[in-house]
Amino acid sequence: MALYVKNASQVITVAGASDKPKKGAEMEEIGVIENGSVICKEGGIVFVGSDKDAQKFLKALDEEIETIDAAGKIVTPGLIDPHTHIVFAGSREHELEMRLQGATYMEIYQKGGGIHFTTKKTQEASEERLLLETRQRLNRFLQYGVTTVEAKSGYGLDLRHELKQLEVAKKLQETHPVDLVSTFMGAHAIPSKYQENSDEYVRLVIEEMIPVVAERGLADFCDVFCEEGVFTIEQSRRILEAGIKAGLKPKIHADEIVSLGGAELAAEVGAISADHLLKASQRGIEELAKKGVIAVLLPGTAFFLMEKPADARKMIESGVPVALSTDRNPGSSPTESLPFIMNLACLTMKMTPAEVLSACTINAAHAIDKASEIGSLEKGKKADLVIFDAPNYQFLQYNYAVNLVNTVIKNGKVVVKEGMVLDEVIAPGGS
Ligand code: NIG
Ligand code: FE
Repeated sequence: MALYVKNASQVITVAGASDKPKKGAEMEEIGVIENGSVICKEGGIVFVGSDKDAQKFLKALDEEIETIDAAGKIVTPGLIDPHTHIVFAGSREHELEMRLQGATYMEIYQKGGGIHFTTKKTQEASEERLLLETRQRLNRFLQYGVTTVEAKSGYGLDLRHELKQLEVAKKLQETHPVDLVSTFMGAHAIPSKYQENSDEYVRLVIEEMIPVVAERGLADFCDVFCEEGVFTIEQSRRILEAGIKAGLKPKIHADEIVSLGGAELAAEVGAISADHLLKASQRGIEELAKKGVIAVLLPGTAFFLMEKPADARKMIESGVPVALSTDRNPGSSPTESLPFIMNLACLTMKMTPAEVLSACTINAAHAIDKASEIGSLEKGKKADLVIFDAPNYQFLQYNYAVNLVNTVIKNGKVVVKEGMVLDEVIAPGGS
């Protein structure tokens, strides 16, 4: 059975950049096809083009066809979120009032709250509890048109509990329609008992955690929170290099709160992405551009922490490929709404609607090393598509903080219809 998405007012293909992320003016090129159609078969895309040509293609296909009429709507690649911390227990709404009274994110962390609070709750939670809570988050992601997410560990902070988080992500990858890509982030915080001896914790991460995670194939990437008061540049370098040796590609939480040189380190170690970058230096930005490191920007985190966002314009103009993400986590960005993050990217970082779409599709796919499979609507790629109730792509960014997702197709199957996640996704096997 083939699936025929028919006659959309615009099909946004974002095609032609599967080998390299888009940078500079390329981010404006999103491949708009007016009155376009997409045909999927056996989980893959077999045709993208004008509706006229689609009809000819279907005749030759000689197969049973399910048709979805997308007239008046736009079709985009499934959205990709390349930076999340979704496997956790321990929401932190009690921190809001503290922050409104002036406490900073780092002050709360240094007093034993923040990441430490979520770590305690995640360590205490059963695997079943984590599965249930994370599954609900994935359902919400799907409802917002997100078909692939990266998921970091980092609320275990010891071998047993880091493995528990990564195992949960693996089970969800096997059972939930949203695809998950895992990152080991044992270096997310320094556990309180190592506060006076952080090098000993770094040793544990390098000698006891990374080898086991890599050997069990539980992660593709290794990340570190390189920040004043957390992991130093030198500690971060050691951790990322140990990850590289074990086959884990480096990512880095860089220059979020202080201009520490995280962007420069990302370029030095050849990281696939440098994330946050609110305080990245001019030199850091130039180094990212030179090495082709993707800047994963998180304007929702800046918004939620009431900080000035990263300088996306400077990065794009300097030739740094930019991707966007929710940073979904319980402390600095509790939302699954990637479309709202896209709105914020336009309104607070002055990215254009076209740049935003490149950032959440093909560039996000590159940031998780999956661009040969996803991130654009092209023959041979996975059939991950979103149909939005929008007549053109600018409409998506103009109407802010509303969910315009009408239909989500994952691996060639409808999983969201009329804006609702289907029952078989919410309760697989019936309830
Ligand atoms: O990317 N900055 C460090 N890590 C996360 C926040 C995690 C948390 O606060 O629980 C981030 O913002
Ligand atoms: Fe993060």
